[in-house]
Amino acid sequence: MKKLISIILGFILLQACHTEENYTIVPTVIPLQIPSNFPEIEYNLENNPLTEEGVALGKKLFYEGRLASDGIISCGFCHEQASAFTHHGHTISHGIDGNFGFRNAQPIQNLAFFSEFTWDGAAIHLDLQPIIPITSDFEMGETIPSVIQKLNSYPEYRILFENAFEDAEATTERLLKALSQFMVTMISGNAKYDKVIRREGNVNFTNLENKGFVIFKNKCASCHSGALFTDKSYRNNGIPFNKKFPEEEGRKRVSGFEDDFYKFRVPSLRNTEMTFPYMHDGRFGTLEDVLDFYTDGMSENGGKIDPLLTKQDGSLGIDLSQEDKIALIAFLKTLTDNTFLNDKRFAEF
Ligand code: HEC
Ligand code: HEC
Repeated sequence: MKKLISIILGFILLQACHTEENYTIVPTVIPLQIPSNFPEIEYNLENNPLTEEGVALGKKLFYEGRLASDGIISCGFCHEQASAFTHHGHTISHGIDGNFGFRNAQPIQNLAFFSEFTWDGAAIHLDLQPIIPITSDFEMGETIPSVIQKLNSYPEYRILFENAFEDAEATTERLLKALSQFMVTMISGNAKYDKVIRREGNVNFTNLENKGFVIFKNKCASCHSGALFTDKSYRNNGIPFNKKFPEEEGRKRVSGFEDDFYKFRVPSLRNTEMTFPYMHDGRFGTLEDVLDFYTDGMSENGGKIDPLLTKQDGSLGIDLSQEDKIALIAFLKTLTDNTFLNDKRFAEF
């Protein structure tokens, strides 16, 4: 009888331990810190709550070369922190086997505030975006089923998936959700500009920066607007057609509308000092080149130019003097966020 009781007790205890074990892996939900001068986020956290374990898994996946067919090209290969997660030194990005795409890598920053991604808006959810690079022949050259199979075969990932989700199984949904969780936390909102706007401490613009800010508000902020420095629309800023990439049609690739030919999503200018080269194809190496283009470089051979871009004399472009340009660049540099560029939470090592 005693033996029976102890067996029953033992069994109950075992069950208790088992349940407790299940509870110990409930992931820790963490809040998202949104700068006070920023808008509401667009990413729906209810469908994918941020957790410490999910973000950690997302970070590991972001820097994981094994997501690519060659075992080398990770997301971080083209999205490097020191250049606000762009592909430093590359006009257009190359990936697997040195294959080249036809676009300049965009920064990974403040993506929680967007609902359409890439230069032409081809991805309409952050969770779906990574499928493009993983499966593209120019980027990681893999297939999603093969990535999932690989992840499930590594014991270290089984533990990480179990910590972040209900069990150890790597699935497409969990892979994408973990990557999104990491990218959602990548908020850049601590530049000198933000400190001035939020009236933090004793931070002020210099006279030159202030002059640049005024010019910016008058001549640039109609498109590069708000705290994100983009109105998120697709526009044709007069950039001449690049004959090297005849397949490039801008937004028209997605919408099919002739009117959208060579329109691109207005890029955010946060950390712009670090995200060179510039434009969808990385054709300009410096901010000086960009401003010379705005005053003198526009051409209608890349489709219909945005009506905002007409000078006082009726010709194409934006009126800016040499001094205006110097002041504008000084202002643009106040958007460099060294906290973000050096944040250990986003660093590979
Ligand atoms: C071979 C280089 C390369 C690799 C590898 C790469 N990307 Fe990119 N990424 C790009 C380029 C180029 C673009 C611009 C694409 C376009 O407009 O068509 C981009 C755009 C993006 C965007 C859109 C940003 C925005 O503002 O809309 C996100 C998000 C992104 N990449 C995430 C990732 C993730 C996550 C991975 C890994 C799974 C990854 N990338 C791997 C080059 C790369
Ligand atoms: C009519 C809307 C519009 C106006 C006005 C405008 N821009 Fe742009 N800007 C764009 C678009 C669209 C692009 C992307 C074009 C492309 O990639 O081909 C862009 C690209 C840029 C880039 C390159 C960013 C990158 O990451 O590649 C910089 C820098 C820039 N603009 C600065 C300015 C400044 C400074 C002004 C004011 C003097 C200004 N823009 C006025 C629409 C505009």
